[in-house]
Amino acid sequence: MDASALKGRRVVVGVGGGIAAYKACELVRELGRAGAEVRVAMTEAARQFVTPLTFQALSGHPVLTDYFDPAQEGNFGHLDLARWAEAYVVAPATADLLARLRAGLGNDAVTTSLLAFRGPVVVAPAMNVAMWDNERTQENVAVLLASPRFSAVGPGAGMLACGDVGAGRLAEVRDIVEAVAARLETGPLHGRHVLVSAGPTREYLDPVRFISNPSTGKMGMALAQQARALGARVTVVLGPVGPVDRTGLDVVDVESAEDMAREVLSRVESVDVFISTAAVSDWRPETRAPQKVKKGETPETLRLVRTPDVLLEASRRVASAARRPLLVGFAAETEHVLRHAREKLERKGLDAIVANDVTAPGAGFGTETNRVTLLTRAGAEQVFEGTKRDVARSLLAALFVARAPPVG
Ligand code: CTP
Repeated sequence: MDASALKGRRVVVGVGGGIAAYKACELVRELGRAGAEVRVAMTEAARQFVTPLTFQALSGHPVLTDYFDPAQEGNFGHLDLARWAEAYVVAPATADLLARLRAGLGNDAVTTSLLAFRGPVVVAPAMNVAMWDNERTQENVAVLLASPRFSAVGPGAGMLACGDVGAGRLAEVRDIVEAVAARLETGPLHGRHVLVSAGPTREYLDPVRFISNPSTGKMGMALAQQARALGARVTVVLGPVGPVDRTGLDVVDVESAEDMAREVLSRVESVDVFISTAAVSDWRPETRAPQKVKKGETPETLRLVRTPDVLLEASRRVASAARRPLLVGFAAETEHVLRHAREKLERKGLDAIVANDVTAPGAGFGTETNRVTLLTRAGAEQVFEGTKRDVARSLLAALFVARAPPVG
């Protein structure tokens, strides 16, 4: 576990009223062990499970339990706590507490201090499996996570305290500590805005048929998550893909190449880095029928027209900008991989390109692993292979960590 980001950092643990409240004791202790300074706020229900005295002893600070208590408010009240904290972790986040957070209520020490807090919040839900599965709970969590300030860890699945089996267990304490550390990391991309295009596009010929390709967006999402882990603010313009981890990312969903071009071009001038991993369809049907085309009406040939080259247009748009973003392309090739990739780097005016032989075993569309060569404008060549996550980490390290960041 890498919890070094916690050293000397100020973390509030907001304890909700569930049986897992006793595990929050261990969380406070482990955060402290990792070097964080910890203060605790408790809901009234939480006090039914663990006494404030326990948390006071573990954190070394008085615990905020009652925002109507003049003694507590006069000493270190909910606003002081919110101003003091660099990260806020809610554990256990019960169904009721999540609902109140989602609604923006402020009716106890946890919700009032959280309402006044502007930084990153990690929620660690724990409850009975049926309560977790409940539509309202799921909706509340989804709404909270739509804010880039909020992230969730868990719940885990297994035997619950109530005897039921399923999702609802508080995440392991070390996973919660790691999630808090991740939110406090000030990596080499801190303060930078990274734009990533990912996934395929769909070019419809009628409401039920389209031209596309097998891209799953995995490489792009891995890069997006790693850029975020290095401290960047990350926006992903994402074509249609299956479920992907969107935690902490600002994701703009698109369908066609034209949608993707519009969303990328409206942002590219204001970002620091644009990484173009999308497998944009190069053609679209010339016309899109408003209704399903019947078999008998099918034309013998389909007339296609070119779609915008998103990366090329982005490159042209920023070519003369005073603050030009770093442009990184991908080249999906099946032969003469490096030659074609370098030609694309030149033609599209890029700073670097990632050459990908999509026919190689363990590489290309939909695989969990990849093998790529990073080519830079300056002529350097480096090969990386492993899981897409490892490759993403190595690529970003080569671009931004191994030497002084080439942007800004
Ligand atoms: N790209 C893009 N828009 C397109 C086509 C490609 O933004 N319409 C981007 C890809 O995201 C990638 C790079 O351009 O970063 C190269 O994509 P690739 O499909 O390998 O090359 P193409 O330019 O389409 O050339 P070709 O299909 O002839 O190999």
